Amino acid sequence: MKLKDKVAIITGGASGIGKAIAERYTKEGARVVIADLNAKAAEELAKQFGNRALGIAFDVTRQESIDNLVATVVEEAGRIDILVNNAGIFAMAPIPEITRDQWHKLFAVNSEGKFFTMQAVARQMIRQGHGGKIINLASQAGRRGEPLVAVYCASKAVVISITQSAGLALIKYRINVNAIAPGVVDTPFWEFVDREFARYENRPIGETKRMVSEAVPYGRMGKAEDLTGMALFLATEDADYIVGQTYGVDGGNWLA
Ligand SMILES: NC(=O)c1ccc[n+]([C@@H]2O[C@H](COP(=O)([O-])OP(=O)(O)OC[C@H]3O[C@@H](n4cnc5c(N)ncnc54)[C@H](O)[C@@H]3O)[C@@H](O)[C@H]2O)c1
Repeated sequence: MKLKDKVAIITGGASGIGKAIAERYTKEGARVVIADLNAKAAEELAKQFGNRALGIAFDVTRQESIDNLVATVVEEAGRIDILVNNAGIFAMAPIPEITRDQWHKLFAVNSEGKFFTMQAVARQMIRQGHGGKIINLASQAGRRGEPLVAVYCASKAVVISITQSAGLALIKYRINVNAIAPGVVDTPFWEFVDREFARYENRPIGETKRMVSEAVPYGRMGKAEDLTGMALFLATEDADYIVGQTYGVDGGNWLA
């Protein structure tokens, strides 16, 4: 077991990619904390993982919720070894229709929320004095522009940037900060993406999903489980010398 007795927080861990990572970490012996806006789903999932796992109501946009998460985990488990900074949301609109509200909502969750969760966990890891692993969920969208997806793309470019800065700043404490950039992954998130593209591009529901699946060089959309190998690797000592990197795990999608 590669993560025996490690304490790992997974934000947005009640669904999709976070849920698959929580399952994989549990199998590798970690004690997982599922921190999610959907408290009921987080608690139910934690129950499935046995009495060492914890489900916590968490809103990444609220500082008191971030502080409460760190305090509760330290109280219950004694320390934090790994943060999977995963909670994220999507929205899209043509440039002339983008509102300040959409901008603020996306940045509050995807950028600001991730930064201040990382900061709070890093403070705790520094206090503990034995390093740690922080894994941010970026996106292929953070490496490029997309005509209808400007704000989400920008919010994910921020994740790549803060991974670089925090990676450089925190490695002296032996805290590794790295990121994963998925391509297109078949989760509840993509059901929403598909509906939004249907609305803005006047396509039938399911058509965008079919088109993007065919375009992936690997030959299909990603499954949440496809992301868990990299998430595991970056949480182990095999990744000790890796600092501030963002790894594409996307079936070749971004490169193509
Ligand atoms: N699915 C994809 O194709 C894809 C591609 C690239 C990047 N990503 C990124 O991967 C991450 C996970 O995506 P997913 O597909 O698993 O999404 P998902 O919608 O299946 O799960 C996201 C989880 O985050 C939680 N969440 C939302 N807002 C929150 C908040 N304010 N506080 C706490 N939790 C909150 C939701 O309740 C949900 O459980 C996101 O950061 C997303 O941007 C996804």
